[in-house]
Amino acid sequence: MSKLPGNAGVSVLGDKSLEFYRDPVSFCRQRVEKHHSRVFQCRILNRPTAFICSVQGMRELLCDKSNLFIKDPTDLMTNMYGDTVVTTNGEEACLLRLSLTSLFSGSCLESSSDYITRVCERCLKDLSMSSQPECAYSAFKRLGTELVLGLFLNVRAEEQPELYQEIAQLCTQHWHGLISAPVNVKVPMWSSGFSTALDARDKLMEIIKDKLENEKHGFVGTLASLPLPKSSSASQHLLLFISALIPKALASLLTSFTLALCGNKQMCQRAVEDPDYLHNVLLEVQRLWPPFIGGRRIADQDATLAGFLVPKNHGVIYISHSIHRDPEVFHEPDSFLPERWSGGNAGQEHLLCSFGNGPRGCIGTKLTDVFLKEACMYLLKHYNWCLDPPSQDLEYKWLPVSRPINTPTVSFSRLDQSKSDRSHSS
Ligand code: HEM
Repeated sequence: MSKLPGNAGVSVLGDKSLEFYRDPVSFCRQRVEKHHSRVFQCRILNRPTAFICSVQGMRELLCDKSNLFIKDPTDLMTNMYGDTVVTTNGEEACLLRLSLTSLFSGSCLESSSDYITRVCERCLKDLSMSSQPECAYSAFKRLGTELVLGLFLNVRAEEQPELYQEIAQLCTQHWHGLISAPVNVKVPMWSSGFSTALDARDKLMEIIKDKLENEKHGFVGTLASLPLPKSSSASQHLLLFISALIPKALASLLTSFTLALCGNKQMCQRAVEDPDYLHNVLLEVQRLWPPFIGGRRIADQDATLAGFLVPKNHGVIYISHSIHRDPEVFHEPDSFLPERWSGGNAGQEHLLCSFGNGPRGCIGTKLTDVFLKEACMYLLKHYNWCLDPPSQDLEYKWLPVSRPINTPTVSFSRLDQSKSDRSHSS
């Protein structure tokens, strides 16, 4: 058993959080190169922290030894969303997961599929209407927002436009608080982002509680009837599910998909004809551009990860971006090669961690999979697309949710010219 490479630094002065938040990918790349190791340590959030950038380390952390590492109950997520499964541990987390998982599988998932089809058509049908190229990320975020508010709260943009707009705006304010410093300051004429976010959260909670009391059908009706440990559990989870986090993650993946296939007619053709190939394209999209940089745990006792000692109370962060480019597992790790998933990496989806992994993996993966395939299939069946202008800076930012720093503009042209619109609109 070896000591973790790197320096855990002295309290406060040795903290590297700012450097990490500024550019997490370069932060990890530099240290992996310096230490010749995909597992290393430094001080983050003023706590000695092990960084996991290898597939083996991730599998041990999230699967084989997951019982030795706990979620941090003081995480900022708790501040913004209250007690949810995300920051809960032990038996309570197991029970919550058991109840909530039923909402995202089986008949509940099946009953969502009509709405998913309709919302994709509604939001994607006009992508070629404007004479200007589309800001792809924004269009996909609107789609993601319509999806979550319609599905989880029965609020549909076309039926209740004012209420829909109000909730969407509150979700955005709430989100901005999550990423602003948690300083609850309010003075006349000015309030910090965090305090605006808390106000937005209170207003959202009122709307959510009203829905839980009065709506008997759909997701919100089923959630209200679930046996959950606390009376506030249903509303707090609903707040989490409708938060801007999920539409942003969905928009991130759809944007990366659009960019990866931009102008590649052969790949588009294959993906529209062969569902297995589309599946592999989407695996490759989430491998190279995971929406979230990773996740964090705390060592509950002394443990080892990839042969290194991780002392009790050390933080542990797994970095999806680096794990997905581990050359031990992924040949030509930086190249977009959907074929790898039917070749050298066939059957190895479980080595990805865009949706976490193991017993605390994402409970929304099946729903996300259904949604993404529907949205991507709609795009493939109805459009050709290309970057417009053809040369754009596509450099990514990775926090808080990954996407190109400058949102790319894309021209969509309809494949079915009889329904063509660009000519009508111009
Ligand atoms: C593109 C979409 C999504 C991505 C990339 C994503 C990603 C993730 C990741 C990485 C984790 C694990 C975090 C960790 O290890 O600490 C996670 C957990 C979770 N996700 Fe998702 N997720 C997505 C969509 C959803 C949806 C649609 C829902 C439900 C509406 C959802 C609900 C959850 C919950 C409740 C957890 C916590 C599970 C636990 O702690 O036991 N996610 N997700």
